[in-house]
Amino acid sequence: MTALGATVVDAVYVVAILVFILGLKAMSSPATARRGIVFAGAAMLAAVVVTFLSPGLSNFAWIALGILVGGGAGFYWARVVQMTAMPQMVAVFNGMGGGAAAAIAAVELLGRLTGPTAYLSVAGAIIGSVSIAGSVIAFLKLQGWMPSAPIVLPARQVVNFGVLAVGVGFGVYAVGWLHALYLAPFFALLLVYGILLTLPIGGADMPVVISLFNALTGVAVGLDGFALVNGPLGDAGYAMVVAGVLVGAAGSLLTALMARAMNRSLGNVLFGAFGATTDAGAAVQGSMRSIDASDAAVLMAYAGEVVIAPGYGMAVAQAQQKVKELADLLAAKGVTVKFAIHPVAGRMPGHMNVLLAEAGIAYDKLFDRDEINAEFPAVDVVLVIGANDVVNPAARRKGSPLEGMPILDVDKAHNVIVIKRGQGKGFAGIENELFYADNCRMLYGDAQAAVGQIVSALKQG
Ligand code: TAP
Repeated sequence: MTALGATVVDAVYVVAILVFILGLKAMSSPATARRGIVFAGAAMLAAVVVTFLSPGLSNFAWIALGILVGGGAGFYWARVVQMTAMPQMVAVFNGMGGGAAAAIAAVELLGRLTGPTAYLSVAGAIIGSVSIAGSVIAFLKLQGWMPSAPIVLPARQVVNFGVLAVGVGFGVYAVGWLHALYLAPFFALLLVYGILLTLPIGGADMPVVISLFNALTGVAVGLDGFALVNGPLGDAGYAMVVAGVLVGAAGSLLTALMARAMNRSLGNVLFGAFGATTDAGAAVQGSMRSIDASDAAVLMAYAGEVVIAPGYGMAVAQAQQKVKELADLLAAKGVTVKFAIHPVAGRMPGHMNVLLAEAGIAYDKLFDRDEINAEFPAVDVVLVIGANDVVNPAARRKGSPLEGMPILDVDKAHNVIVIKRGQGKGFAGIENELFYADNCRMLYGDAQAAVGQIVSALKQG
């Protein structure tokens, strides 16, 4: 490549890096997130295209085949995936990133076993291998292809630590004493460690874990980038370092935020086998009382303030458009309508925000748990739509599987109406005492149909 060509390639990498940063910034608000994704995607495409011009690149046919198969599968899956299956899709895509990082490290190690960068490759390989193996288990749990409850093996902490220590030992030995053969048990043990680490983590904690694996994948890619900088693809390594660091930093922050939203430490999420002993909440006394859609409509129409608390059931029912219609009708009748958003409502971070934004509900109507919780005692009606765990007062009780998770304090409102199909439990699998409370009425039915009935009743009334 000519000097000019090399400068152009470098310039594209620099621009791509800047656009990665701008894209990430745009993703921090729902209003600009879509633009952020497009920015980051375009920057990645540009970085990949110019890499083809690098003088050290060969095997074009294999690379093209990989892009075709991987890109085609990703494109197809992203188009057909249901919103409710998004967490497991993220787990798989993230696992692929970890696997790719581990594969790059493996190629690097097989090609160059010496020098300080070999240790960076070892580190990239460790993190990438744990990430892909853990992500596969996360996928299987979330997809329901294996039990989502924690699988707790005897003496797991000791066994896990032993597997990790021996695995890392093999890697260090392979590089330090130049024995490539030891790379095989090194990779095998780290994959086993990724599996063992994830088995005791329950499905409800999976988003936190996926986010952590996502951060780890970023770190692994960054470390691989460092190793590549000294190789034939040189400058592509810089773009990988920056992209990896951004993913690592953003993923770490998201992990910390989600753990905080559940009032748990990361250590407790990873090593606490949360939910392994389930208190099914069978102790709840009393009976649930129902309400029909027209009575619910009257109650809300005469309220000063209605707060809508959506959850996973709204996503399943795809009820967000009907919910928007309901909010508009109530607002037209002079009712103040707000939305209470719990950070882990639904099945992925920002799940409710995305659905409500899709329906055109203004952001200033959405209130975080911490912003709205103090208001509930003064709220006339809370309409809970397909939410369960995030409004379960059992979280305030010692020994409950939800203990310590800050909830939406909807039970403190004057009236609560809960829309759900029947007696189904929430994600944590425990009874919800809210449903038995004196101020609570159940409106049974699919969320879209039930909200539709309230809307019809309001229109007629
Ligand atoms: P859940 O506790 O999962 O409860 C959802 C409720 O919706 C169920 O009780 C179900 O009862 C009802 N439902 C299901 N389909 C419905 C439909 N078509 N129409 C009406 N209702 C329907 O939901 P949540 O309160 O949003 O809590 C989220 C839980 O998931 C938390 O435990 C959280 O930790 C966990 N989690 C969160 C995430 C993130 S990051 N958001 C990711 C994974 C797991 P019926 O069957 O009786 O209808």
